Amino acid sequence: MKEKLIVALDVDSLRSARELLDVLYPTVKIFKVGYQLFLKGGWKVVKIIKNLGAEVFLDLKLFDIPNTIFMASALLAKEDIFMFNVHALGGFKMMLEAARAAKSFEKKRPLIIAVTLLTSFDNETLTQIGLKKNLKEEAIKLAMLAKRAGLDGVVASPKEVQGIKQSCGRDFVVVCPGIRPKGVSKDDQKRTSTPAEAIARGADYIVVGRPITQAKNPLVAAQKIKEQI
Ligand code: C5P
Repeated sequence: MKEKLIVALDVDSLRSARELLDVLYPTVKIFKVGYQLFLKGGWKVVKIIKNLGAEVFLDLKLFDIPNTIFMASALLAKEDIFMFNVHALGGFKMMLEAARAAKSFEKKRPLIIAVTLLTSFDNETLTQIGLKKNLKEEAIKLAMLAKRAGLDGVVASPKEVQGIKQSCGRDFVVVCPGIRPKGVSKDDQKRTSTPAEAIARGADYIVVGRPITQAKNPLVAAQKIKEQI
């Protein structure tokens, strides 16, 4: 079975990251490194994960003018990482430049995906930033834009996977955060679903952070989620 579980290593020190990696690998084979850990540990963290034999999703959610994104994506595409991302709200031209930078790199390259709407968004957040349609329609619209720009997939809420797959095709990768097993706190996430629901709806990968990293026994929590997958 293809690996579907990505664990968000949202910790603030290399030591905590190593402790989790030691416990979770090889049950978990893909780890997401976000701002917190990357700002603390930089490429060293990526190296530690790669040396272990695991893969890295570098979650920096790039958002800037197209030229800046082209240059950043060209650098990231050369790294030995599995996946990195940009914000779809950065617009078509910006995503086009990210895709162009990566595709000019001929060797094996990371997947580039776009964050549609953060899973912490609700209708109020949408109104505040002036988006008029509902969450699902806006997410699908942004996913179609990302596909047209040549990106490999999107990060989206489990609630929107089916619509995105229908509009963008089965091969368009959908990565779902906002995953909460039954009975686990939602924290700041709004549009959540269980691991099994997300996979049943067609998610290619699920990203799970706190339900594993803050569990009493992270390995058992990860194993249970893998069983559900
Ligand atoms: O702890 P939790 O399972 O909520 O972690 C989810 C992870 O996925 C966090 O690292 C968060 O930054 C990331 N993420 C998200 N929603 C998105 C994109 C990324 O929650 N749309």
